[in-house]
Amino acid sequence: MTPLVPNARSARIEESATLAITAKAAKMKAEGQDVVSLGAGEPDFPTPGPIAAAGIRAIEQGKTRYTAASGIPELRRAGAKWFHDAFGLSYTAAEVMVCSGAKGALHMALDAIVEPGSAVLILAPYWVSYPALVTMADGTPIVLPPVPENGFIHDARTIDAAAQQQRAKGILLNFPNNPSGAVPDRAQVQAIVDVCKARNLWIVSDEIYSTLLYDGATHVSPASLPGGRERTVVVNGFTKSHTLTGWRTSFLAGPRAVVEACGRIQSQVLGNACTISQEAMLAACADPLPDELARRMKAFDERRRFLIAEVNKIPGLKLQAPRGAFYALVDARELCAARGIDDVKICEQLLDRHLLAAVPGSAFAIPGFVRLSYAAAMDQLREAVVRLRAFAEAR
Ligand SMILES: Cc1ncc(COP(=O)(O)O)c(C=O)c1O
Repeated sequence: MTPLVPNARSARIEESATLAITAKAAKMKAEGQDVVSLGAGEPDFPTPGPIAAAGIRAIEQGKTRYTAASGIPELRRAGAKWFHDAFGLSYTAAEVMVCSGAKGALHMALDAIVEPGSAVLILAPYWVSYPALVTMADGTPIVLPPVPENGFIHDARTIDAAAQQQRAKGILLNFPNNPSGAVPDRAQVQAIVDVCKARNLWIVSDEIYSTLLYDGATHVSPASLPGGRERTVVVNGFTKSHTLTGWRTSFLAGPRAVVEACGRIQSQVLGNACTISQEAMLAACADPLPDELARRMKAFDERRRFLIAEVNKIPGLKLQAPRGAFYALVDARELCAARGIDDVKICEQLLDRHLLAAVPGSAFAIPGFVRLSYAAAMDQLREAVVRLRAFAEAR
């Protein structure tokens, strides 16, 4: 009898590169090695006290049972208010649902809109999970090459040409972008929305970093622009801004029919997002702690400025100023060429020889680049720069 094996689709799904590097760095640390880990996309700040306390209260009050599949009604209403107050987006509670992390929301959205085999455009550099999420929804991920020379923001004409050629049915957008930190302006987002309207594409807009902005950048959701709302599924939440990383909650918002479809799917595969975490998210909506957020942004911005200044002094490395999120996407193409190695090898050598964990750009479809997360304390970043320089200057 032939041994049973997992199916072909699961074989096409690779382990998340960022999680793999973080796990390797954690193992080395546990073995006593002095590793500086800039791999993970997780803030070094704890979940704010009032939000954590709401979770504890939920347990104490016995709010530990199933909820409606699309979330606690009160939280869906609070989510609609938050989308309006924070981003000027108008949704009813029925057009907002609660998912298990942005990842869970993206999974529901893609499952609800992708037709089998249909093309979904993904703009490189992209967050590592997008191709796998499209594949799991039975779609075909089509990756548009990165445009670092254009500030990492694709021209709408390029998107239009790809949409036409591939007969695409949808596009995944992520601004502020992980890993590049790119934030398009209103006109650039509108140009993309116009193409999506002309080609009748769905937009899945991953806006999980939308409150983490620098240098006066503003976040523009495609759903807020003419022609955008009826074709956009917005994914957002407090994961990155308020360190709700482990709580696994998020909001998905969009046209009612899609949100209902996502609700039906979620009811079958997940049930509901963790009840305790929904209560914590309700507290975050009631008071998004603007002072705490401002304090975090000040720290992130200091780190960002430090990296921009210091990395650009290292021979063979360049860093364009990220305008959002908390990643520095370092251009190491010159160094790669000089050494005759690629970005994967660079990251291997950085970790093995200099005990610095970073993620190779190849994981985000931008080979020759290396991603450093600055969701890490300043002393770690200082040490990281020392190690990067030592690596770049080593013969
Ligand atoms: C662009 C982007 N989307 C989604 C996620 C996943 O977020 P969550 O932890 O809410 O599932 C991440 C996490 O790194 C991310 O960078």
